[in-house]
Amino acid sequence: MLSKVFEITGTTPIESYEKGVAAKFTRIDDKWGIKLYRNEYMRDKTYRFQDLAHSIGCAPSLGDKFKVVLPDDREYHGYITECISETFLKRHLNELGLESKSDLSSDEYYNILDEMEDDEEFKILCEEINSIGISTNDMHASNVGYLPNGKLVAIDFSHEHEE
Ligand SMILES: Nc1ncnc2c1ncn2[C@@H]1O[C@H](COP(=O)(O)OP(=O)(O)OP(=O)(O)O)[C@@H](O)[C@H]1O
Ligand SMILES: [Mg+2]
Repeated sequence: MLSKVFEITGTTPIESYEKGVAAKFTRIDDKWGIKLYRNEYMRDKTYRFQDLAHSIGCAPSLGDKFKVVLPDDREYHGYITECISETFLKRHLNELGLESKSDLSSDEYYNILDEMEDDEEFKILCEEINSIGISTNDMHASNVGYLPNGKLVAIDFSHEHEE
């Protein structure tokens, strides 16, 4: 799988990655994707938290870690992760027949966030993650989503800490 990773990271333009504040993400295939961080400490922390949460069924599974230079000539620290089918936000956008967050009014966006706070599965997910000593401060609607088997999991631990 690592040869596929280097093929993809060598040819994917920087602007094609899905981006958050800390990570870049792209798919390898239907099941697997790549997460990239500029900072090795951040990569190792998110890997460790995701691995712990995965051990109780609350995060996608993980593959190898690696280091790579992207077409911007910068070094990134990455790992392979199982992909979710869609984020909580994406599922709710689809239900409204909308494509992206920018198609939502701010009221509609806040309604989705309210729905997430009231969602029993989301409450249980947070309790379970907290029970293994990891915070859930940044579990917004783009940081949790559904595995292909329908299970709600957390995908982003970059702003979490040990409690
Ligand atoms: N395992 C995954 N499966 C599918 N998509 C993913 C996965 N991990 C990340 N993504 C996509 O990439 C985006 C950015 O990843 P992530 O949320 O980990 O980055 P971040 O920089 O830590 O985000 P934030 O801005 O919330 O701090 C996610 O919102 C999601 O759309
Ligand atoms: Mg995120």
